[in-house]
Amino acid sequence: MNATHDDDLDLTDDHVGLSFADSCPDTVLLLIHGFPLSNRMWDSQLADLSGEARVVAPDLRGSGDSDTVEGPYSMAMLADDCIALLDELGIDEAVVGGHSMGGYVALELFRRHRERVKGLILISTRAGADSDEGRAGRDSAADKARAEGTGPIVSGMREKLLAEATYEEDPELVELLDEIMEAANVTGVVGALAAMRDRVDSTPLLADIDVPTLIIHGADDRVIPASEAEIMAQAIPGATLEIIHGAGHLPNMEQEEMFNELVAAFLEEV
Ligand code: MLT
Repeated sequence: MNATHDDDLDLTDDHVGLSFADSCPDTVLLLIHGFPLSNRMWDSQLADLSGEARVVAPDLRGSGDSDTVEGPYSMAMLADDCIALLDELGIDEAVVGGHSMGGYVALELFRRHRERVKGLILISTRAGADSDEGRAGRDSAADKARAEGTGPIVSGMREKLLAEATYEEDPELVELLDEIMEAANVTGVVGALAAMRDRVDSTPLLADIDVPTLIIHGADDRVIPASEAEIMAQAIPGATLEIIHGAGHLPNMEQEEMFNELVAAFLEEV
C-alpha cells in the first residue's frame, strides 16, 4: 500500500488539525468511520482496495489522531471537515462510504455537497433520526462519559459491535477493537454523541439520491438492524443491497474478503 500519513494538517476554518490515511489511484474512495472508532477500522480496505481506488480515510474531529475540540459537533461540521480534506488533497469527486455514524456523515455530505459525490456506500447505517428516547439516551451517555470517562460507552459498544460468532472465533479482532475504542477521548465522544443526537431525518433525501449506491449490512448487526438497510434500499433509486452473513455491525472487519470484493466490484461499476 502506498499510504501516507500526516498527523497535523491545519485545514478547517476553525484550525482543527485532521489526521488521515491515504492510498493513491484515480477513483477516490473516501471512507468515514463509525462511533467510537477511528480510521483504523479501515486497515483491511486501505491494504486491499488501494489498487482499485485511492482510499482516503480521515479520523473525524475528536477521534483517532485528529485534533479534539470542544463540541457539540454536528453532522454538517463533520461532513464539511471531510470536504476540507478532499479540497486540500485536490480531489473533486469521491465515492463516499460511511460506516454507521460515518453513514450519517455520508448522507449529510451528499445533502450539502452533491457535486462531490460519485457514488455512495452505506455500511451498517440508517437514514432515520433518533427518536426522543434515543436523544435522551445520547444525553445520558454524554453525562456518564463526563462523569466516568469513556469506559462505560466502550464496554456498552463492545458487547454488541460484533456477531456472537466473531467474539468466539476472532479474539484478535476483539482485541483490536478494544484498542481502537480505548483510544477514544471524552471530549470527542461527547461531541460525536451530540452530532448523532441532533442529526436530521435523511429518509426524505433517499428518493433524491441519483448516484450509484451500494448498501452493505451484517445479517447479525445488533446495533442497527438489517431492516434499516432494507428501508434505504427500497427508497434509493437503483440501490444494491448486500447482506453479509457471519457479520455483525462491522462487516468490513468481520468478513473482510467478502466486503472488499463487493466494494471492488462496485468501484469498477462506478
Ligand atoms: C456507530 O456505530 O457509529 C453508532 O453506534 C451509531 C449510533 O449510535 O447511532
